[in-house]
Amino acid sequence: MLISKELIEEIRSRNDIVDLIGSYVNLKRAGSNFNGLCPYHGEKTPSFTVFPGTQSFYCFGCGAGGDAFTFAMRSENLDYPGAIEFLAKRAGITITAADQEKERGGIGKQKVLEMNLEAAKYFRACLFDKELGQVGMDYFVNKRRLPMTIIKRFGLGFAPNSYDGLSKHLKSKGYSDEELQVAFLGRKMEKNGRTWTNDMFRNRVIFPVINTTGDIIAFGGRVLDDSKPKYLNTSDTPGFKKSKNLFALNYAKNHCAERLILCEGYMDVIALHAAGFENAVATLGTALTQEQARLMAKHTKQVLICYDSDEAGQNATRKAVRMLSEVGLDVKIIRMDGAKDPDEFIKKFGADKFRQVLESSRTGFEFKLESVLSKYDVALVDEKIKAAQEMRDYISDVYSQVERDVYASQTAQKLGVSLEGLKNDIEALRKKKIKSYNAKTEQEIRLGAMGIGDRVNPDGIKNIKAKSAEEAVIGLLLLREEYRGLVTSGKVELSRDDFISDFHGRAFEKIIELERADQYDFSMLGEFFNPDEMGRLQGLEQKRRMLTENGREMFSSCVETVKKEKKISASSGDGVDSINALLEQKRGAKKK
Ligand code: CTP
Ligand code: MN
Repeated sequence: MLISKELIEEIRSRNDIVDLIGSYVNLKRAGSNFNGLCPYHGEKTPSFTVFPGTQSFYCFGCGAGGDAFTFAMRSENLDYPGAIEFLAKRAGITITAADQEKERGGIGKQKVLEMNLEAAKYFRACLFDKELGQVGMDYFVNKRRLPMTIIKRFGLGFAPNSYDGLSKHLKSKGYSDEELQVAFLGRKMEKNGRTWTNDMFRNRVIFPVINTTGDIIAFGGRVLDDSKPKYLNTSDTPGFKKSKNLFALNYAKNHCAERLILCEGYMDVIALHAAGFENAVATLGTALTQEQARLMAKHTKQVLICYDSDEAGQNATRKAVRMLSEVGLDVKIIRMDGAKDPDEFIKKFGADKFRQVLESSRTGFEFKLESVLSKYDVALVDEKIKAAQEMRDYISDVYSQVERDVYASQTAQKLGVSLEGLKNDIEALRKKKIKSYNAKTEQEIRLGAMGIGDRVNPDGIKNIKAKSAEEAVIGLLLLREEYRGLVTSGKVELSRDDFISDFHGRAFEKIIELERADQYDFSMLGEFFNPDEMGRLQGLEQKRRMLTENGREMFSSCVETVKKEKKISASSGDGVDSINALLEQKRGAKKK
């Protein structure tokens, strides 16, 4: 494949979809998404939605959808390579330059990892050096109260206050100035036409970042006092991408089958490990990314979010709850009263108290209710109404009727509104949402029945039951890496031939092919599917995202249905009659 997943990701990350589409369509914020009038079909009320969280768009009216590349293809009338070039240019990167950058001067991943290992040894030696490392050791041991076992376990180090200590050391091992710079270990200096390299990390304590295969991929360096910037972190290098790694996952991965604790800071994680909570991880100085959420889903079932208790931390929590739930993780939120972060909490109150706090963590619902209660003054009538509406929106997305009822009664009680009324509102909104997802399908069925076929998936009409099971399977495969993994590992047996629709069979095949090559990314599908097809795929994923019932059982049962229907149809020919049956069934359900 000519174009790599990394390049696609790079181009997409520099073309924010809201910004891109916003230059063609007038977008208005609606909750966490944006709405506008669809540029692809005539409409008066906006059903065209842009999702910044997933960097995608979908029109609930006409089914157009996709990512930035699909949008560029449609709007600029380009083919896939053309769209890549267009967006690369828009972001100010020429593709060859980007490729060169990746392999800058041929300095690849392996070389950078070697240098990191050498640097980590150097930082550690400095920390343990009586003279050079005294201030660093004093900081860890006395100021942060870390036991020696933890200092050694995390491979902590110290970068002395020298301009060229590490640079000299690495050069003596045969590495060049350019290699030092590419690895983010050396800083390029220039004065009066003279250029040289200084150490990047100076007078900082060092936290090495190690990936799950045991390579040292980056460093975080913290100042010893209150000077700024507090942390200096390795930026992306040929051996490292911030957005795809988590601090301490290399240690946590053996202790997190059930759950992971997600914190904000390196120091939080280290304090938690020292206190016996070896399932703690942190992001690397950025907000949580989708890739990190997926990485966590690979290793665990539940994530306890333990961000700082300040406002920034709580806002970040809200976003993290959403992202983690979207990849199928069970999410809980920890509240630490009386401390700004887990590190401080443990120091103040001890590990036992922290364990209690873990056990009394709140669910996403409880967190939502609390933040709504703190946002509105429910003693005022109109604020009370707003609060109830916000809760209604949240609860209406919950799949289980039992859960909705429980949440409704808790909400009614806390807000002081009528339970009856709230429940009715929730169910009405839920019905409306489901109806709008179904409207499109129903229209397709009608058109199909009239012989106007579904252009993207003309075979869908042959067997409606198979069609919706196949759609669910494709949607779930697009939504979760976990399910792609079940197929590539052979734990779930499914092949292209199990699909009745050729379109779904092709989609299945390409998704799995990319996953096998470790190149899966929704955008990579653009090479094989036209914009109409990409829109359909986007719609299938979007539908799953909104349905919230996306568990392993759902996946397995849909796979079974797909296989069963294929077997039946193979032995009895095409079942065109099922259209009428389905329309009847829908009418019946409506009357009820
Ligand atoms: N961070 C960063 N750059 C900064 C500040 C913070 O990259 N200038 C990142 C680091 O990964 C840090 C995390 O954000 O670990 C959380 O920040 P903060 O709470 O300020 O740092 P702590 O690690 O908690 O450090 P300390 O306890 O020493 O304040
Ligand atoms: Mn902190």
